[in-house]
Amino acid sequence: MSTSTTTAISTRGLRKTYRKLNGRRSVAVGGLDLDVPIGGVHGFLGPNGAGKTTTIRMLLGLIRPDSGTMTLFGEDVPARLPQVVGRVGAIVEQPKFFPSFSGRKNLSLLARAIDAPPHLVDVVLEDVGLTDRAKDRYKGYSLGMKQRLAIAATLLKDPDLLIFDEPTNGLDPAGIREIRGTMRGLADRGKTVLVSSHILAEVEQVADTVSIIARGELIASGKVSDLIGAGATATTVRVGIVDSERAAQVLQARGWGVTREGAYLVVSGSVQPGHITRALADQGLYLDELVPIRADLESVFLELTAGRGPGTHAPGDRPDGPGAHALDSDSAQAGAAS
Ligand SMILES: Nc1ncnc2c1ncn2[C@@H]1O[C@H](COP(=O)(O)OP(=O)(O)OP(=O)(O)O)[C@@H](O)[C@H]1O
Ligand SMILES: [Mg+2]
Repeated sequence: MSTSTTTAISTRGLRKTYRKLNGRRSVAVGGLDLDVPIGGVHGFLGPNGAGKTTTIRMLLGLIRPDSGTMTLFGEDVPARLPQVVGRVGAIVEQPKFFPSFSGRKNLSLLARAIDAPPHLVDVVLEDVGLTDRAKDRYKGYSLGMKQRLAIAATLLKDPDLLIFDEPTNGLDPAGIREIRGTMRGLADRGKTVLVSSHILAEVEQVADTVSIIARGELIASGKVSDLIGAGATATTVRVGIVDSERAAQVLQARGWGVTREGAYLVVSGSVQPGHITRALADQGLYLDELVPIRADLESVFLELTAGRGPGTHAPGDRPDGPGAHALDSDSAQAGAAS
């Protein structure tokens, strides 16, 4: 068992099954080992149904695991949850606010209910960027503002660890950016933020470290930069060249894969930039631009989860259009206890 206090969250062999209608049990979380370091934003990533919400609910003592151990700041939970719960703020269910009261009034009532110092209300409103709208009625808030008020409510406890289960569900890009900014700001002030998502691109920009799960198991974890560096997809370059027609022929003849992207060529295979430059120059073709295309977390994820059954995509099977970066096209609300 881990009693390390260098982790905000640690689980070992965490398992949760549910009985299905046919009497069999389905595995929601299947022996999960999760470590979330203290400090920074940690992305908890996986497709719909991967077990993110189930894991979070176990950590918060809302449901019981079948087996395995969990610690929050080194304290065993659920046994010592009462001792540690004050250090943890979470949004897993849509919090209830009074619709006709202002955001500020709602927070003031809450502060009184939990014995938080009243001056914190304005502090947390500022933290989430709601100061300007604090006196407006809750029912007139946009979805993003409601979500930010929910975050403000958890901040009233001044927790060391914040757990957000898919906080940007249903938000537009501006709303997503605001939440991201809020999470970053909290981490920069020394808090630990665990944010779950099935949308990798969204988390990639804000997370310092990530854990990726699929079908209730950990498949990768570490620094975002390391995981991306490990992706084989990094060996792709974009080439800008005037005579792209001829250049494409030359490169294809050398065995590289070449596709067009607007005025550019995208060259893949075992690409070394120097080799491309030389191959083209040998034919009197001089390139204007050569940019290595960095793999993103989504490509890494797709590689890692290839062939892991439904709920994952095979490499290359990248959805496009709206929701392009969703890992699963099922309703984003699927884990609606979120
Ligand atoms: N109360 C429940 N009863 C039966 N099965 C459940 C229950 N809660 C979750 N499951 C199942 O457990 C699995 C994991 O669900 P969970 O909600 O933890 O996934 P998730 O990673 O949060 O997905 P999402 O991205 O859709 O929120 C799913 O197959 C789900 O159907
Ligand atoms: Mg969920």
